Amino acid sequence: MDFTAYLPNRDFDLRMRFQKGKIASFFQSRHTPPELLAERTRLLNESPTRYAAFDDEGEAILEEVIDLATSLAPVSPPSFDGLPPFEKCRALGKLWEADFLLMKPDAEGIFRLCGGCVCFPSHWDLGEKMRLPMTAIHQAVPGLNEALGRQINGFLEKIKPGISWERGNWGLSRSPERNLHPSLDLPRLDHSVSLKEVWWRLEEQSLVALPNSGGILFGIKLVIRPLAEIKKNEDARLGLIRALETMPDEMAAYKGILGARQRLLDLLQADGDPSRFCPRS
Ligand code: HEM
Repeated sequence: MDFTAYLPNRDFDLRMRFQKGKIASFFQSRHTPPELLAERTRLLNESPTRYAAFDDEGEAILEEVIDLATSLAPVSPPSFDGLPPFEKCRALGKLWEADFLLMKPDAEGIFRLCGGCVCFPSHWDLGEKMRLPMTAIHQAVPGLNEALGRQINGFLEKIKPGISWERGNWGLSRSPERNLHPSLDLPRLDHSVSLKEVWWRLEEQSLVALPNSGGILFGIKLVIRPLAEIKKNEDARLGLIRALETMPDEMAAYKGILGARQRLLDLLQADGDPSRFCPRS
């Protein structure tokens, strides 16, 4: 894994940073662990409306995404025929490794969230974002709309179909769990964490324009690695230290890092066995 693509030795900033990729490689990975799909199936069976949502406005978009999924599947996927749209959305959520969100332009051309399946959210709730435009979806992210709101909307309006436009967001968590839904109230990072308790969490994202429906498919896949692995990679370690040192407080607070920032820096800078470190009181 090339950590430095996400952790360059540069001050923290908000950037679009898209690269071109292949739709099939992103959405039909041949390396998806079976236990990941089993976890998605369990979550979507136990709490369907927590992890999937659909608004009737998005039917044409969902149909186009299902056609895409069917055409990409290496073996014939389970049939979606006859299922109501919400159930189609849920069935696709069990088939794909990627979480997915469907965006539809409204009468003013503003993209709004009209459905999706998010089993592995990074501390946000799909239901709360439904029908919202991009700027409202991103309202919780300090400085994002000011820095990139116009660029994001412009990008959504003009992306060309047939390409997976890829970028990444990283964070740090106190749990290796894929599913960090806010209702689970999982432990957050603080000044007492040890190296073994911290994971670097990358959201690999893909945007795909859907030419027939005019919608957009947004996919999210996770890479979760122990902080100790980043520490062993000198370039990545320096990149993460620089990002932590230069991240504005509001952004660090949003990412759940603020109260742990100094501790994380100490852990990344310490020599030897970090488990012998005494936490600050
Ligand atoms: C097109 C370019 C986009 C950029 C540059 C971008 C950037 C970001 C960034 C920087 C964050 C904060 C993540 C973190 O630091 O942990 C974020 C959060 C988020 N983004 Fe995007 N994003 C983009 C597109 C989208 C799209 C298409 C959706 C679809 C709905 C989306 C949904 C979200 C959601 C739900 C969150 C979490 C918000 C929360 O915590 O309440 N983003 N995005």
